[in-house]
Amino acid sequence: MRSDIQEILLDEEAIEKRVSQLGAKISEDYFGKHPILIGILKGSAVFMADLIRKITIPIEIDFLKASSYGSAAQSSGVVKLEEDLSIDVKGRNIILVEDIVDTGNTLKYLLGRFESLGATEVKVCSLLNKPARREQILSPDYIGFEIPNAFVVGYGLDYAQKYRNLPYIGILKEEIYQ
Ligand code: XMP
Ligand code: MG
Repeated sequence: MRSDIQEILLDEEAIEKRVSQLGAKISEDYFGKHPILIGILKGSAVFMADLIRKITIPIEIDFLKASSYGSAAQSSGVVKLEEDLSIDVKGRNIILVEDIVDTGNTLKYLLGRFESLGATEVKVCSLLNKPARREQILSPDYIGFEIPNAFVVGYGLDYAQKYRNLPYIGILKEEIYQ
């Protein structure tokens, strides 16, 4: 798999350090509250697992599955809800946990949905922010790293379902997805 990676953008150490900081900040900001962290599958699974172990206040977790991507490295712009939540979010503080915010279409759709379900507040924690191709006026409340306009994989992020198990985040060689 390493030979398909053009460049390692964020190594294990950098990710671990930043995830710890995010966990500490969320613990501080939500002290005395009891938020639900909702991971957007599948991309956020690795980040979610590490992040929640750096949070020192009581929380709940849930997952949903949404996608705007086929197997291509291009956003379709259409968001599909493939699996829904299992807990009631009415009156709750929600933190959506994303792997990456790119066009912002997925987030826009989910934020609207949580509002209509009666959540008290919805914030977004994204490991990566790729603002270059943003199509919606929004930005995550908690951001791990700002990244350039490149297609990245690893630490949960995939190309055609591969590379999620890489412990680092790397730029995929263009020849792999072209
Ligand atoms: P939007 O465009 O809706 O996209 O903000 C969010 C989802 O698109 C996927 N995505 C990527 N996946 N490498 C990936 O592996 C990337 O560089 C990338 N950019 C966007 C991802 O699933 C994200 O949740
Ligand atoms: Mg995703």
